[in-house]
Amino acid sequence: MAANETIRKETVLVEFDNGIAWVTMNRPEKRNAMSPTLNREMLEVVDLLEQDDRCGVLVLTGAGESFAAGMDLKEYFRELDGKGRGATIATRRTAYDWQWHRLMFFEKPTIAMVNGWCFGGAFSPMVACDLAIAADEAQFGVSEVNWGIIPAGNVTKAVATTMGWRDSLYYIMTGLPFGGQKAAQMGLVNESVPRDQLKQRVRELADILLAKNPSVLKACKDTYKRVYNMDFGTAEDYITAKLEQMFQIDGMKGRNEGMRQFLDEKSLKPGLGTYDRKKGG
Ligand code: COA
Repeated sequence: MAANETIRKETVLVEFDNGIAWVTMNRPEKRNAMSPTLNREMLEVVDLLEQDDRCGVLVLTGAGESFAAGMDLKEYFRELDGKGRGATIATRRTAYDWQWHRLMFFEKPTIAMVNGWCFGGAFSPMVACDLAIAADEAQFGVSEVNWGIIPAGNVTKAVATTMGWRDSLYYIMTGLPFGGQKAAQMGLVNESVPRDQLKQRVRELADILLAKNPSVLKACKDTYKRVYNMDFGTAEDYITAKLEQMFQIDGMKGRNEGMRQFLDEKSLKPGLGTYDRKKGG
């Protein structure tokens, strides 16, 4: 496949640019509400990108003025009513698969670029991404209380994992919207910048990640996410085993190269700069 060849599906667009796969939920006329078609296509795309060398970092965003206006109230909820439990379970599984399971442990680093509306179900893929940068102008809302449902599809867990107890309950129970700066202040996203600087900031962050050893990055993020709910003893065992496993996968390349740059070449000082794999292993 050509280096910059775009993947264009009915509801998803993927563009490649120097190691970044920009993945756009692409139903701007419906504010990128996540329909069964979009969920199926996103699952296909995420699986494809895991094996595509053109994707070193996956950036998830939305077309137009919206990141995603949550689950599609018509196609994901109303049209499934009366179709039987089997249809509901199958449709739900596809959504959960890409929005949570696949993104949470995706092979490469992931960044949510929250450009606009981000409601309800959109919190799942946004929080499953490793990092998130918002536009100050973006509007977030845990709006489920308005629809007679609880924040499902792991939205409650996503909120509880990133926001504090009081803030979580406040926004879950009121359904009130909040902006990018507030999201950053609560820890829901890493930072918030003016919308006209959003893409540039995400590019800078992606470039930092692209300069790191990919095997080490994958091990680091998986380890953090796995040990988050473990007790200390289990975590210690897991981390030690993961380290040994990573050496097997990476062949000690990253470790030896970092030491060579610091001890022999004296070119790397993490307090003054950062490791760059292009300079060595
Ligand atoms: N499900 C299905 N359709 C949706 C949708 C959703 N979650 N969010 C927006 N749409 C559709 C609208 O029905 C409308 O369709 P139409 O043109 O056929 O009438 C279209 O997208 C544009 O939406 P509209 O409301 O006119 O745009 P807006 O810019 O005035 O407002 C929002 C944007 C995001 C503020 C508003 O659409 C909204 O509040 N959406 C619901 C968000 C939500 O609570 N999601 C959680 C679901 S669990």
